[in-house]
Amino acid sequence: MLPYGRQSISEADIEAVAAVLRGDWLTTGPVVAEFEARLGALAGGHRAVTCTSGTAALHIGYAAAGVGPGDEVVCTPMTFVATASAASILGAKVVFADVAEDTALLDPAAVAAAVGPRTRVVAAVDYAGQPADYDALQPIADSVGALTLADAAHSIGGTAGGRPVGDLADITTLSFFPTKNITTGEGGAAVFRDPSLGRRAHEFHFIGLVRDPDRFRITDEGPWHQEVHELGLNYRLTDVACALGLSQLSRLEQFKRRRAEIVSRYDAALSGMDGLRLLGRRPDTDPTWHLYPVRVLGGRRREVYERMRAAGIGVQVNYIPVYWHPVYQDLGHRRGECPNAEAFYAEELSLPLFPDLTDTDVDRIIHTIDKVLG
Ligand SMILES: Cc1ncc(COP(=O)(O)O)c(C=O)c1O
Repeated sequence: MLPYGRQSISEADIEAVAAVLRGDWLTTGPVVAEFEARLGALAGGHRAVTCTSGTAALHIGYAAAGVGPGDEVVCTPMTFVATASAASILGAKVVFADVAEDTALLDPAAVAAAVGPRTRVVAAVDYAGQPADYDALQPIADSVGALTLADAAHSIGGTAGGRPVGDLADITTLSFFPTKNITTGEGGAAVFRDPSLGRRAHEFHFIGLVRDPDRFRITDEGPWHQEVHELGLNYRLTDVACALGLSQLSRLEQFKRRRAEIVSRYDAALSGMDGLRLLGRRPDTDPTWHLYPVRVLGGRRREVYERMRAAGIGVQVNYIPVYWHPVYQDLGHRRGECPNAEAFYAEELSLPLFPDLTDTDVDRIIHTIDKVLG
């Protein structure tokens, strides 16, 4: 089965990991610091905190923003559940705002209608790799004293208006799951434009430990002393994983180029194909494409999904609207809340997209979908 996404691991990646295994540090050592510095530089010169997953990055991001009971987080429903659930688990109420009909990106007009005095964060997702419209979202968030969060699990290395992902929102979260644009196995990172949030995030992911003597509230305890001011968890990524991440980061431009080539090949063959509609494109963006979503018209999505899979092509569906999950139904959410997201979900099918996909593979996928639809 041709998967919808797959990691690309080179001999240099393997050697980078092996070199760490031969050294002194397995976990928080120099390679974590180097990976964080390189990520931060890529993301607009801001502080990056690495962690064990994209889900952990969201938890860290919301915790650093101070999200808690009584707060609201305005969130896109067209995402993986973690974008919302990481806020819910901190006690916040998630308010779902609909997406634009053509791009499936959070719609600023829907956000403007959803924010209020309790809104602490406006959370968008760079669906498929296209940055959401943060230029429109930021003033809406600012107007109620909220922060913007970009779930950039799909979009590392992309730009909008010439600015890199990581510099577009107050908080940006990344995932390094194997299907993503770079991988550390499991892994993620959160990037903060405000250094004080970055420090809070670092401490949250490090069990809450404060190690700077200038900030100690217990003084004169001894040189071994460290203390906790706010509760935290252990979400630390290891030197072993960060060695893979650093090596993958050096290949990101090459991955981005190959993903763009595949997207162009799909576009050329599929635009105008009867029974399909392609994803709307945002102007003035240069995405690192993570997904290639098409819309299957005429109520045939499930049939096409099953026939593509039967032909050995591992298509995927991204995503069921988050509030359809029973946990959100139990919290009082109902189908019908976000009609654009629901209409998109009803037709969405993601075709395989990963750097090692060959042109021959792409042509087979195109030929198969043409035959299935025909
Ligand atoms: C949009 C989005 N957000 C968050 C996540 C969570 O990332 P992870 O699987 O690394 O926890 C994913 C990946 O599955 C994702 O696609």
